[in-house]
Amino acid sequence: MTRHDPDIMNLLASRPSLHMDGQDGLLFEGVPLQTIASAVGTPCWVTGAGTLRRRTRNLRKAFTERGIDISLHYALKANDHLATLTVLHQEGCGADVVSGGELRRALAAGISPSQIVFSGVGKTDAELMLALQEDIGQINVESVEELRRLSHLARASSLTARVALRVNPHIDAETHDKISTGRLGDKFGIDWADVPALYREASTLPGIDIRGLATHIGSQILSPAPFKAAYARIAEMVVGLRDEGLSVSVVDCGGGLGVRYRDELAPPPAALAGAIAETLGHLDLKLAIEPGRWIAAPAGVLLASVIDLKAQREGVSDFVIVDAAMNDLARPSLYGAWHGIIPLAPDLAYAETAPQTVVGPVCESSDVLAKDRLLPAVRTGDQIAILDTGAYGAVMSSTYNSRPLAAQVMIEHGQWQVVRKRQRVEALWGHDSIPEWLDSE
Ligand code: LLP
Repeated sequence: MTRHDPDIMNLLASRPSLHMDGQDGLLFEGVPLQTIASAVGTPCWVTGAGTLRRRTRNLRKAFTERGIDISLHYALKANDHLATLTVLHQEGCGADVVSGGELRRALAAGISPSQIVFSGVGKTDAELMLALQEDIGQINVESVEELRRLSHLARASSLTARVALRVNPHIDAETHDKISTGRLGDKFGIDWADVPALYREASTLPGIDIRGLATHIGSQILSPAPFKAAYARIAEMVVGLRDEGLSVSVVDCGGGLGVRYRDELAPPPAALAGAIAETLGHLDLKLAIEPGRWIAAPAGVLLASVIDLKAQREGVSDFVIVDAAMNDLARPSLYGAWHGIIPLAPDLAYAETAPQTVVGPVCESSDVLAKDRLLPAVRTGDQIAILDTGAYGAVMSSTYNSRPLAAQVMIEHGQWQVVRKRQRVEALWGHDSIPEWLDSE
């Protein structure tokens, strides 16, 4: 159960943004997390702007070193806080959005429409119209129906959509079933065998400026092989379309690069850059990627406090009940995801460990944040950090069990600030109304 689990020192060793200080306990980008947890309360998400910047630069560098001029369209869905978007915009990122809401968010963060790509399997007329009116950089179309609908909307309003067709290449990304998107039977993209015919059609449709192809085969991908296989298929398609005299100038390679949560051997960005360089690099294309997790996951922690300890009989891990739960961080309950946990207090870092199961207060047996985890003997009131929660953390929170959305803090250069106040509990029913017939009594 715990054989392969990294201990606290191992977790710290592979996370350059985190340090254990003998006096101040766990530091994130040099800031004592105990200070934040005590001042803001828990649960509380903390985002490190320095980490976001460092990772974005490292990602870009991997491509520059392969001689590839890449556009980074950060996938908003991973962490769409305006402060995060502002940092990434400053780092030169555009945006990959999947809803009208995300599109508006990207604009609100000051990202220029030309740097926005709109992906997604079910775009409504209203969302497509928004994209057309804002004249965004590219719409990744996912079906023949969507293509024709977009053409109709564009023609009716005398506007033009720059379009890429999202290809489903039927490649297994060898990741969690629930985050695979490029296999036969996955709802995303256009069956690769149907793409050439649709590309031909797109090139004749009014209101459509067909530019190229896009693909995204899944998330938390830990091997370069599926990337390479998917891009090789796309490259073949580019050549075939060009042979027919069609113009193909852009390929959007999607996101998906995985990170180390536990003991995974996550490929470095150079592996992704290599896969793209080797398959598409020679085709004189404008290349883009849509990373979310790789940039944001290690740039965030979730702080929680121990509410209670609940001893179990021999052979069963004791429960540590904390004030963060599956409504805050959904990943463990949804995908069985493993997130490292480090107590914030310095004395605990070196204490003896025993298997414990960390749970939240939500009334579901799946509200387990860490099962049978080797942890020091924490006490009621102790604070912990749940690691690598900067991507698909706060964005996936719900208010289940009438639990308000947690506060959010951003750190940079040793300073920190609350960037989202904890939701007021009254806000949870603020939009509820009671039907008149019930109200009349
Ligand atoms: N582009 C498209 C079209 C996507 O659907 C996604 C993610 C990305 C880019 C970014 O992928 P990334 O680089 O972050 O792997 N909630 C799940 C992950 C869902 C990913 C959905 N699509 C999780 O917590 O693991």
